[in-house]
Amino acid sequence: MLADKRILLVISGGIAAYKSLDLIRRLKERGASVRVVLTKSAEHFVTPLSAGALSGDRVYSDLFDLTGEHDIGHIKLSRDTDLIVVAPATANILAKMAAGIADDLATNILLATDKPILAAPAMNPRMWANAATRRNVAWLKDQGIATVGPNVGAMAERGETGEGRMAEPMEIVAAVEAILTPAASAGGAASGPLTRRHVLVTSGPTHEPIDPVRFLANRSSGKQGHAVAIAAARLGARVTLVSGPVTIPDPAGVTVVRVETAQQMLAAVEAALPADIAIFAAAVADWRVATAADEKIKKGPGGVPQLALVENPDILAAIGRHPTQRPKVVIGFAAETENLLANAAAKLKRKGADAIVANDVSPGTGIMGGDRNHVRFLSGDGVEDWPEGGKDAVAAMIIAKAVQLLQG
Ligand code: C5P
Repeated sequence: MLADKRILLVISGGIAAYKSLDLIRRLKERGASVRVVLTKSAEHFVTPLSAGALSGDRVYSDLFDLTGEHDIGHIKLSRDTDLIVVAPATANILAKMAAGIADDLATNILLATDKPILAAPAMNPRMWANAATRRNVAWLKDQGIATVGPNVGAMAERGETGEGRMAEPMEIVAAVEAILTPAASAGGAASGPLTRRHVLVTSGPTHEPIDPVRFLANRSSGKQGHAVAIAAARLGARVTLVSGPVTIPDPAGVTVVRVETAQQMLAAVEAALPADIAIFAAAVADWRVATAADEKIKKGPGGVPQLALVENPDILAAIGRHPTQRPKVVIGFAAETENLLANAAAKLKRKGADAIVANDVSPGTGIMGGDRNHVRFLSGDGVEDWPEGGKDAVAAMIIAKAVQLLQG
């Protein structure tokens, strides 16, 4: 949560500026005060009236507005804040920031400030790929300026896709929280919409032993599940994270139960009930070796060993259809390489889930093990195609949905 945090939002002139109005709303929902500075070209995309109505404050745009200067000068504006967010950050404003140009109120503030800056770049993919933009962004990052996005997706220009879409408002909020409330962002917010709620999350792969040294496994890194646990803790929840073997660190402020096999994961999940929300992000092995050998299986004249497999318990289905302790909200994942939506919809029904987060994990997507994700969210309300984003941002959106389902 961002209670008592002051944010100065610089909106520069890109088509994504309309999303910044939603950003104002999301930041205010979290308790932040938001003061808006519009560049001249931003006023072609959003009006001072709409930005002011949402921020609940006057909107600043003119460096030479005498009343404004008298009230509060650009130096004061640049300091009376905890964080400056530039969203959208056009190629133009990034270039001015990198060059130290100050030719309007926004760039004067950015040059004069001693406060952290977060930029959400948004532009045409060719502009983003241009060597000058690459150099400017690299230099700004070197100076400690944080960035979020841009994402890959469809552009305003018809038919164009590529890297250049502004990060979604919730992604920017997550980045703001990571800067302003790092302890809470790492888990364990004092209060929030999930205060006094218990959220149970599974994450990572499972390892199914073949013998004492070998096992069946999959490529899950646990990054998405761990990010979901962190996002729930940020909103004040008590979180139990049941994790298979992963190499990423335990999130702070979260109770982590480490397991190896699917059977152990089911036992740990059942032991952690009751819960208000359960989110099953683990890539549980569907099968285990019927009888794991007690000793290391040796090569020998008998030929290659034959592994007999038996089916593992389906943890999501067991909890989604739990006779007495079904959490109010049960969300599963569907990692598919084909027929994504049809398979995910079937899972939603079969496993008794309220929603399924579906993603395409075909080779080449880089999703399994990577830091980014592109998901579709299936629930009773239909299918939403969420924009590609960092696993943190996707986690924040999943938790936001879970909160809605809990309250609904
Ligand atoms: O059927 P499939 O494995 O694709 O289903 C994926 C969803 O079911 C995920 O949410 C996963 O965590 C959950 N699952 C489970 N136990 C299993 C298999 C899958 O909880 N044995």
